[in-house]
Amino acid sequence: MTLRQAQDDMALRQAQDDKVCLRLDGVSKRFGSLSVLDDVSITIRTGERCGIIGPNGAGKSTLFNIIAGELPLSRGSVRFLGNDVTRVSAHTRARRGMARTFQTTTLFPRLTVIENLVLALQAHSAERFTMLVPRSRYRARDHEARALLERVGLGPRADALVDALGYGEKRQIEILLALAQRPKLLLLDEPTAGLAPSDASLVTEMLKREHAGLTMVLIEHDMGVVFDVVERLTVLHYGRVVADGPVEAIRADANVQEIYLGGKV
Ligand SMILES: Nc1ncnc2c1ncn2[C@@H]1O[C@H](COP(=O)(O)OP(=O)(O)O)[C@@H](O)[C@H]1O
Ligand SMILES: [Mg+2]
Repeated sequence: MTLRQAQDDMALRQAQDDKVCLRLDGVSKRFGSLSVLDDVSITIRTGERCGIIGPNGAGKSTLFNIIAGELPLSRGSVRFLGNDVTRVSAHTRARRGMARTFQTTTLFPRLTVIENLVLALQAHSAERFTMLVPRSRYRARDHEARALLERVGLGPRADALVDALGYGEKRQIEILLALAQRPKLLLLDEPTAGLAPSDASLVTEMLKREHAGLTMVLIEHDMGVVFDVVERLTVLHYGRVVADGPVEAIRADANVQEIYLGGKV
C-alpha cells in the first residue's frame, strides 16, 4: 500500500467512525458454563434510535451492562465514538457521554424532584469534587433543572418529594436525569416496565419528544412502545442476534414473529 492509499484509507475510516456512535464486535459473555451472549455485533450510527427486543433471559440487560462497562465481556470489543472502550471503566464511559437508566428506580426518595435533578447536574459538572458550590452556581443549576422539568410538563412537581410521585412520573424524572447529562448515547432498559398503560404512554411521549438528534438504544418488551419510538430493531434470542434492520422489516420477518412475537404482530 502506498502512503497515499494509507492516508485515504485512514481518512475513510475516520469518516466512518464519525458517523458511528457505538460498535460492538463479536461480543460474547459467559457466566461460568452459561453462555449469555454469543458473538453479538451491532453498529449504532450517531442520531439513530435503536430498539433491542427478545424474550426474557435473552441477554438484553447483560448487553447493556457490557456496553456501559459494568460487566467485563468474555470476548469481543466495544467501540464508543471512535475509541476502543473495551477495557475502559464504567465511570469513564459515563464521562465520555454514555448515560443509562435501569429497570429499577435510582432516585433519592427523600429528596425533592428538583434536588435530585440539581444533584445529577452537579455530578456531571467540572467541579463535582468541590464540596462548596457557590450559591450563584447552585441557582443556575436550579434554574436549569426547573427548565428541564417544564419542558416535560413536570414543572408543578418540582418541589414534591420523589417518594410522593407516581410510577410514571418517577420514570420520567429518571429519563430526565439521564438527559440532563446531555448524553452522546442514551441506554434505556425497559423504561415502561411495571407501568400502567397511561403512565407508559407518558414515558413514550416523552421519549418521542426528546429524540431530536439523540442516539438512543431502547430495551423494551412492549411492542407498541418499540414501534412508536425506534426506527431500527435488533432481535436477541438466546444471546444471539437473530434479526437486525428497519422496524418495518423486522415486524414483517416471519422468523421473528415465530420466535418472539408468537405470530401476533
Ligand atoms: N450476574 C449473573 N450471573 C449469572 N447469570 C446471570 C447474571 N446476570 C444475568 N444472568 C443470566 O443471563 C441470562 C440473561 O439475563 P439478562 O441479560 O438479564 O436477560 P434479559 O434482560 O434479556 O431478560 C439469564 O439467564 C440470567 O439468568
Ligand atoms: Mg432485562
